[in-house]
Amino acid sequence: MATLISNSAGETAQLGEAWARSAVAGWVIGLCGDLGAGKTQLVKGLARGAGYSGRVHSPTFALIHVYEGGRVTLYHLDLYRLRTPEEIADAGLEDYLRRPDGVTVVEWAERWWGGADLPAPLRPPDGPYRRVRMEPLAGDRRRIAYEDFGH
Ligand SMILES: Nc1ncnc2c1ncn2[C@@H]1O[C@H](COP(=O)(O)OP(=O)(O)OP(=O)(O)O)[C@@H](O)[C@H]1O
Ligand SMILES: [Mg+2]
Repeated sequence: MATLISNSAGETAQLGEAWARSAVAGWVIGLCGDLGAGKTQLVKGLARGAGYSGRVHSPTFALIHVYEGGRVTLYHLDLYRLRTPEEIADAGLEDYLRRPDGVTVVEWAERWWGGADLPAPLRPPDGPYRRVRMEPLAGDRRRIAYEDFGH
């Protein structure tokens, strides 16, 4: 587990950009953290690092956005509105979560992995994945902790 502190939205995006520069297809990144924690800021950096030059949107209402045309395709999922593993499966998102043909980043990944007050988790990705927890500290500071699995 690695932990670091981001002091600004820009720093969080830079972190995502650095991660994406070495990203290869099949990698899954799950982001946990409350509203406003900075998940979408990180995704903006990931998209830039993947070589995507367009705008990044919050997919809360779309469930998924696809950023193509860079070095690797980035799938941006948001599970906020899906409360159970069944809803996630019914939405047809499992392939993106388990074995993407690009890189997948998921906001509200706790919906998928489960937790104390949530139903049992779906199966984790088939390949490597990074589990990220983002926590607001005072002001603009955010604690970003992450752990890699399946490498
Ligand atoms: N260190 C920081 N890292 C990331 N965002 C920060 C930071 N400091 C301030 N912010 C601000 O916090 C907000 C984070 O919003 P963002 O949309 O990324 O959150 P989110 O986790 O995606 O929330 P949601 O669950 O609603 O999708 C932005 O307005 C951003 O400018
Ligand atoms: Mg968001």
